[in-house]
Amino acid sequence: MDTTSSSCPPRRPRDRLYPAGFLVRGIPYPYAGTPMSQVDYDAELQKHNEVLRRAYGIGPNDHVLDIGCGSGQTTRDAARFATAGSVVGVDTSVSMIERARQLTENAGLHNISFLQADAETHPFLSERFDIAISRFGTMFFAHPVTAFASLARALRPRGRLAMMVWQQHDRNEWSVLIEGALAAAADVPAASPTLADPFSLADPTTTERILVAAGFVGVSFTDVHEPVYYGPDVASALGWIRGFSSVNDVLQRLNSTSTELILERLRQRLAACASGEGVWLDSRAWIVGAARR
Ligand SMILES: C[S@@+](CC[C@H](N)C(=O)[O-])C[C@H]1O[C@@H](n2cnc3c(N)ncnc32)[C@H](O)[C@@H]1O
Repeated sequence: MDTTSSSCPPRRPRDRLYPAGFLVRGIPYPYAGTPMSQVDYDAELQKHNEVLRRAYGIGPNDHVLDIGCGSGQTTRDAARFATAGSVVGVDTSVSMIERARQLTENAGLHNISFLQADAETHPFLSERFDIAISRFGTMFFAHPVTAFASLARALRPRGRLAMMVWQQHDRNEWSVLIEGALAAAADVPAASPTLADPFSLADPTTTERILVAAGFVGVSFTDVHEPVYYGPDVASALGWIRGFSSVNDVLQRLNSTSTELILERLRQRLAACASGEGVWLDSRAWIVGAARR
């Protein structure tokens, strides 16, 4: 049964429309999509980012850590708040860090540094930061309690965590749509066990338990219900989705008949979500807030 083609979010007035973007079920995330893609992650998530930026509460003297910073849009946003402070962006990806440095130089911001490292294991200086932020960069830790405990130690006492994470798969139309299309072929292989789970922090009870065990208190969850933008038209959206590691992982292991079947199913489902304003898919995320004990 097709559970997605009729579930596109209602069209919203233009001033409420957002972009959205990227996704999915593995790391590293594909920021560039395929060569035919006219989308990037910042475009995809622009409406999410507006909400997140309002939620940070970063002051001019704050020292900020951006976890899984990618190409650094959130790092640069933080730096514009912390005008007399500083921001460190950390990411495991060499190419993302290179891109982040280039974009930051272009932006003329001088209170930012980038670190290519695994935030889960990197020995950050104790009590170095006032706030740790992240836009979808904290869901991939192999040992989340250990990782968040390390990040808590890097915060000053009462220092804050503000991170955006996906809500459950079935609340995210983009994920339901993609999964439904991938299931169209009979010979779809099981997802690679090396792919990380972008929904690992979706359940508030589990996430609160992780954060409390790691040394945080006052854990809060703010619902963010904004669509993601997959591009100006179906071809662009399809190009973007084909760059997702979860999709690529499956397509690479299928024969050409099955691949074409899945791509056609994706085209049909994306067409049902397309309008003159582009391809928008419903999504839900949490902004998780907490303070170091
Ligand atoms: C979904 S992307 C988000 C990137 C960025 N926060 C943004 O919104 O543009 C997740 C990022 O987290 C990074 N990442 C995943 N696990 C990480 C880890 N343990 N330490 C540092 N970075 C990590 C990935 O390389 C990737 O750039």
